[in-house]
Amino acid sequence: MSVDAVYHRGPLFKEVFGECWENLRWLFQTENAVLTLAGSGTAGLEAACASFIQPQEKAIVIRGGKFGERWFKICQSLGIRAIPLDVPWGQAAQPAQLDALLQLHPDTRAVLWQASETSTGVVHPTQELVQVVRARGDILTLVDGITAVGVYDLPQDALDIDVLVCGSQKALMLPPGLAFVSASERAWRAGERGGCPRYYFSLQREREQQTAKLQQTAFTPAISLIFGLRESLRMLREEGLAPLFARHDQLARAARAGGQAMGLSLFAQKPSHATTALSLPANVDGNALGKRLREGYGVTLGGGQDQLKGKIVRIGHVGYFGPFDIITAISALEMGLCDLGYSVTLGQGVGAAQAVLRS
Ligand SMILES: Cc1ncc(COP(=O)(O)O)c(C=O)c1O
Repeated sequence: MSVDAVYHRGPLFKEVFGECWENLRWLFQTENAVLTLAGSGTAGLEAACASFIQPQEKAIVIRGGKFGERWFKICQSLGIRAIPLDVPWGQAAQPAQLDALLQLHPDTRAVLWQASETSTGVVHPTQELVQVVRARGDILTLVDGITAVGVYDLPQDALDIDVLVCGSQKALMLPPGLAFVSASERAWRAGERGGCPRYYFSLQREREQQTAKLQQTAFTPAISLIFGLRESLRMLREEGLAPLFARHDQLARAARAGGQAMGLSLFAQKPSHATTALSLPANVDGNALGKRLREGYGVTLGGGQDQLKGKIVRIGHVGYFGPFDIITAISALEMGLCDLGYSVTLGQGVGAAQAVLRS
């Protein structure tokens, strides 16, 4: 990423971008074009809505956490009639509930959800949700895969996901700043009706520019990040999809085992492979714990947001993580909890995590 920012209409950039283009399709497990945008993951979410859904159309949004709320707000801001399917935070969406809501709103044009809702550490059942949608006709499925693509097996084409969105700073192990969107023929057809008013985030324009023939972005790309992307995709290909998913699975199981062994319970009903959310005891202030870990031990864990502020702690294990990152996190958590007066036997959580990581 520290190479010169080369001319983005020249041959070297085309070569780098072309390699990324192919490898992104491998990562998304799709024959579709995977478009790269300069912007954080949210840019990809907004571009997807604006490019494939019309203002005033109905879109059902599964809202079970901070990022479900975000997609709901994006729809509202674009004039799309967003219908919430509220799921209690910590729980996974139920396909039967989606089916009932679709029956109530037969004119729904799209259904949107997170494959992994990072704020609660929950995995929604994407495969079952897509099946419910498909059974109800020509409705688009838009899936936020920001902490799912490259984390667990989510083959876009095999699952028949219309639009899949990802960002650079999670499984791709890069700094933030790139969003990736891949869309099916069904989505492109829906987009022919015009979509919402937009300029920069027109996926149609990007598609024209980024096809295998041109290998260019419509506007100046985030050149350094794309050089980084080439390398991170090479690293992922070297690792292979099955080992990549197995690594995330094992790290997640170790984090869960460690947390549970120190007496904490899992917040998520169906826990994600990207992050482990642990409920804190009522007498432990999560904000004080976060500060203690950061300032006392140099370890940063995620906290809860909004209604979960101070109530959960989240251990990240998406992307550039290995066994000792989990051991470190669990060990620091034990020490921090002890410091705040919570009774925990030091080493118990670490031992449980080690047992998973050895196997
Ligand atoms: C599931 C999910 N969706 C959306 C976002 C927002 O992405 P960004 O912060 O890159 O805009 C995040 C960020 O963590 C996320 O985890």
